[in-house]
Amino acid sequence: MRIKNKYRKPTTFNCNAGGRCSMSAVVWSLVGCLLMLHLYSLARHKDGVGGEIQLRMSQHPQFRELLEVEEENIQMPPPRKRSPRAAKRKPKRSTTLIDEFLDENSQLRNTFFPDQRTAIDPMKDTGNDSFYYYPGRMWLDTEGNPIQAHGGGILYDQKSRTYYWYGEYKDGPTYHAHKKGAARVDIIGVGCYSSKDLWTWKNEGIVLAAEESNETHDLHKLNVLERPKVIYNEKTGKYVMWMHIDDTNYTKASIGVAVSDYATGPFNYLHSKRPHGFESRDMTVFKDDDGVAYLIYSSDDNSELHIGPLTEDYLDVTQFMRRILVGHHREAPALFKYQGTYYMITSGCTGWAPNEALAHAAESIMGPWETMGNPCAGGSKMFRLTTFFAQSTFVIPLPGFPGLYIFMADRWNPADLRDSRYVWLPLIVGGPADRPLEYNFGFPLWSRLSIYWHRKWRLPQGWSGLK
Ligand code: DGJ
Repeated sequence: MRIKNKYRKPTTFNCNAGGRCSMSAVVWSLVGCLLMLHLYSLARHKDGVGGEIQLRMSQHPQFRELLEVEEENIQMPPPRKRSPRAAKRKPKRSTTLIDEFLDENSQLRNTFFPDQRTAIDPMKDTGNDSFYYYPGRMWLDTEGNPIQAHGGGILYDQKSRTYYWYGEYKDGPTYHAHKKGAARVDIIGVGCYSSKDLWTWKNEGIVLAAEESNETHDLHKLNVLERPKVIYNEKTGKYVMWMHIDDTNYTKASIGVAVSDYATGPFNYLHSKRPHGFESRDMTVFKDDDGVAYLIYSSDDNSELHIGPLTEDYLDVTQFMRRILVGHHREAPALFKYQGTYYMITSGCTGWAPNEALAHAAESIMGPWETMGNPCAGGSKMFRLTTFFAQSTFVIPLPGFPGLYIFMADRWNPADLRDSRYVWLPLIVGGPADRPLEYNFGFPLWSRLSIYWHRKWRLPQGWSGLK
């Protein structure tokens, strides 16, 4: 006989009149809770790692200096007097600091492009100023000449334990091929500089030279060679250079590949092509820890980036490619990896004029990539909105200091491109990301990335390159 127990608890929940919330509701809530817990612990984990590094960094006095937010207050000069006729012809528009930056006759010219007297000269007895970077100042090589390695990148050569800096050698006159065309310098070639300390640079010469006479050659001086990057292939023992190859009007939109047995060249130019059959303008290559290298390029009228692995010998692309940051209109990609996460800095698309940098992150290099926001810290609002009046080109890892990198950028001088300057600044990954992100319910799956403005700064002394 069954005795009815009126005090017995029901095994299902009554949610509403007559309705029963089944076990599945309980299971789903549990799953939800577990998911939240997992995400929370992931976020904690990332924070923890970042926090740890920040802590270690903040204990080091020279790291503390790097993390300091340094203000920069550039005053707009008073408006220039205009003749009444000029004022009538062209009504006055209020000028911005970017206009001043682009105006070669601006009173602020020396602020953005300080003259030779303040040049960084590692061969001079600089005393306490040794190893200091001064973003925007002229930077001389060991022979006393301004370094010509624009839109460049750095290769660390394990064999010779030497850093090599490759970039556009632009020591020629700036001109406009057409009235509306961008300012340009004829191709001279790819310059290469070597260094043990990332501060003193010896000119190793032009490692890939322009073609003077053959007009059909990609490297004919009237074409465009930009953003050369070199990676070393362990399997073939070759140094492989990738670069943006174009015609004067930027309609060829291709990549070029060259190869050498030596870091100091000479490089043998192989071919150009449109990777995966698509337009390719600003580009970079990135070699992952497993030896797989990737090409990343601005495509489809610079509206999106494409990324894909290279062949094993690094001389070509494979068939695999993903479109990333579609519709974002980004260029000047600079990629690096930190604790399994991929990070990338990009610029907007405004020719030689500076614009706002953005940082992006991805768990897998092939995407999806998510935008974290503007990484620039310090300076002034205008400094941050213009990437310190510069454009990204490369990020240098500093083994021994996890989370610390050098952000390399170009302060282009469109009136005289050979006089474009280098803006090198500390880039630090650590701490929670600032913004909620799209793909992970707002949980920061990666760390904050900051590029700190400094008028002068140096690498922490414990860094092996400075011992
Ligand atoms: C912006 C690119 O990032 C540069 O490398 C160069 O191509 C200029 N545009 C030319 O205007």
